[in-house]
Amino acid sequence: MSYEQLVNRRGKILAPSFAQDWPNLPVVKAQGLYLYGLDGKRYMDFMSGFGVVNVGHNHPRVLKAAREQLQKQIHGAVGATLHESVLRLAEMLPDILPGRMDMFFFGSSGSEAVEGSIKLARNITKRPGIIACTGAFHGRTYGAASLTASKAIYRTGLEPFLPSVYHIPFADPYHSAHPDDPLQCVDEALTAFRTTLDRIIAPSQVAAVIVEPIQGEGGYIIPPRKFLQEIREICTHEGMLLIFDEIQTGFGRTGEWFAAQAFHVTPDIMAIAKGIASGFPLGAVCARHELMSRWESAVHGTTFGGNPISCAAATATIEIIREEQLLENAKKNGAYLLDRLQDLKKKYPIIGDARGIGLMAAIELTVPETRRGSNATTAKKVLTKALAKGLLMYPCGLQGQTIRLIPPLIVTRAQIDQAITILSQSLRS
Ligand SMILES: Cc1ncc(COP(=O)(O)O)c(C=O)c1O
Repeated sequence: MSYEQLVNRRGKILAPSFAQDWPNLPVVKAQGLYLYGLDGKRYMDFMSGFGVVNVGHNHPRVLKAAREQLQKQIHGAVGATLHESVLRLAEMLPDILPGRMDMFFFGSSGSEAVEGSIKLARNITKRPGIIACTGAFHGRTYGAASLTASKAIYRTGLEPFLPSVYHIPFADPYHSAHPDDPLQCVDEALTAFRTTLDRIIAPSQVAAVIVEPIQGEGGYIIPPRKFLQEIREICTHEGMLLIFDEIQTGFGRTGEWFAAQAFHVTPDIMAIAKGIASGFPLGAVCARHELMSRWESAVHGTTFGGNPISCAAATATIEIIREEQLLENAKKNGAYLLDRLQDLKKKYPIIGDARGIGLMAAIELTVPETRRGSNATTAKKVLTKALAKGLLMYPCGLQGQTIRLIPPLIVTRAQIDQAITILSQSLRS
């Protein structure tokens, strides 16, 4: 059976969540910024495989590291046996993480890193409560899905979820009732947080507060720094642990290794994945030794976590980000991308907001007359037009009204210009 015939059978052989996603672009090869389609066309990948290939697709050094490890050992059941690449990675991570985090549990995905983070928090505090934010996306496994509150559909038909999970508002300047005064949304969100602690679950019962420092799937929502700072202070004061889910914001996406460093707010626990190994499955729960070492032995475990090839790819990824100065590129070209998006906003009243930090940028489509409301129908049309012109982007936000632009961090100015030209033509038509 040919690849074309297999593609046509996807509705019969892949679950609807895969088969009915958009755009189901058949790809034969990926290199750097580009995807090569079965249709013979080349596509600029401005979604980086859901924010994974920060160093670009199939980076030669990642391939080399993976190939070398492949020759030696494919699988290692960490704990029962040991392999060099997982230990080497654990020695490298403290140099790039915030808050001297120096102890790790490795899993195979983002959701698993979130699961591990909340299990760690509950196990060492012996408290049940977990507080998350509305608009958050933390993954699809049951614990992670219990925290996820970006779209009701992600929770529909799945209850009951994990008990003792509570949601508080996230500070969202653009969607607040006072968009001209960003600090007002911080006050409102913090008031709701304090009310939750006063009226619903006492701080003494809360193991952790989990936050994406920038909400990803929920709509590329960038909170004012004060929101994260104040949450940090309340957590410290009340003895609740602060978990950052940096699965999408990590590994240089914001122009710093992690958003925690961009906001100068240090969590107690971090969940990381996606960009860590350039596409090989890997995730990690990270914390300082004093905290992580209190996790009782055997309370948590894994078969595939810390896979030798994934860990070798991860150490190569960190070296590439450093040596190719990709943080600097994310900062510099991210600022350039945001400027160009702001220009588009001036030109097209359908763009209600253009926002971003580093190479984590987005435009939100709205109703042109009012510059408010959500315009997911047009967003879908723009995405489809852009794809036909060779630019792959992916939506986010409650209705899919926001278009995220997250190219690999190797993107050049010329490639950004090319993407902006395509986006502009797609918006115009
Ligand atoms: C912030 C965040 N947390 C968790 C996840 C879940 O990661 P995974 O799909 O690897 O389980 C995602 C995935 O999009 C994410 O963006």
